[in-house]
Amino acid sequence: MIDLNERDLRHSSLVFLEGLLHLKPNERLLIYTDKGSCRQTAKTIHDCAQQIGAHPEMFHLDSNMTLPDMAQILTEKIQKGKYDAIFELSEQYFYQTSAWKAATDMGCRGYSLAGLDQDAFIRCVGQVAHESIFQFGENLKEAINRAKSILIRTKEGTSLKMMMNVSPAEKFFRRVLGKVKGRYIPSTGSVYQQSGRITKDERLSFMSGQLAFNGISDTIEGTAVIDGYLWPPEEIGLIKNPVHLEIKRGQVVGIRGASSEAKALDKWLDGKPKNVAHFCIGFNPGARWSGRIMEVERVFGSLSIGISTYPFHIDGVMKNPSILLDDKVIEQDGSFIHEGLSALAKDLIRISGNNIS
Ligand SMILES: [Fe+2]
Repeated sequence: MIDLNERDLRHSSLVFLEGLLHLKPNERLLIYTDKGSCRQTAKTIHDCAQQIGAHPEMFHLDSNMTLPDMAQILTEKIQKGKYDAIFELSEQYFYQTSAWKAATDMGCRGYSLAGLDQDAFIRCVGQVAHESIFQFGENLKEAINRAKSILIRTKEGTSLKMMMNVSPAEKFFRRVLGKVKGRYIPSTGSVYQQSGRITKDERLSFMSGQLAFNGISDTIEGTAVIDGYLWPPEEIGLIKNPVHLEIKRGQVVGIRGASSEAKALDKWLDGKPKNVAHFCIGFNPGARWSGRIMEVERVFGSLSIGISTYPFHIDGVMKNPSILLDDKVIEQDGSFIHEGLSALAKDLIRISGNNIS
């Protein structure tokens, strides 16, 4: 007899394989795992892929190996396997390694739910309305794309500002300055594709419900108070004592506080690049404050800040931000109030049945 959880897991697996990975009969699928993967989830996805008529293959990576060695083994596996799609359930990400580069070169579709456990898989993949999430992401992207400036505040003390576009005169000045200095000086920020949707142009993706952007780097100024989650370093994760980052001209110039979290972060960043790499807004209504970065970065209404570059990259998540685009509030204390977002947000939360407060 199939119990409720098993039924939910099978339903979520089919939503994932058919609706998100677009798996078709006779296609070859590589499912790779490591010690942080949920075996039951991997097995159910494997079985459902067979049910669809595809040819899934499981591959377990040895977590005792170094990341370059694991990446090398996975790269060879992908190159030899002639897969149509790869699926990352390993806790370790490979998106900036030769493995995902090999998948891209071979025209594979790829999807990462790195380290998601069974419960989170059901909540964030099986019990959400993905098309509405994608519509929400498009509306959010359009709003940010139109903005000249962005302000971010939280009650914990975050106060950040950045420019996304500068005036024509400032643009001209930056072009001239770039020529004098012999390097490109940007006049616009960036808004990226939302995660979760595989298209002709975006063959590799992560879980639904996240949009990344970045302001013009030298205009990012202020304080980010990380009060939700911070990883790496390994010893932090869910935050007990908020960590204050002082940012000037797009660089972290100070870490305030005497807490163990602040000290661990200071040590991690010592001698490493300290650039603000991105901001991300989360909008997966199934996501909760678990201990997994893939999920916490997508908590509805949360805001992440990415610092430094791979392999030192850090993500810090802030709870309940207020976001202003050109001085107009689109999100107030974690609730979206923008006209193109508020109704969709309410629908998404209602459908998932998640109390996000
Ligand atoms: Fe990041």
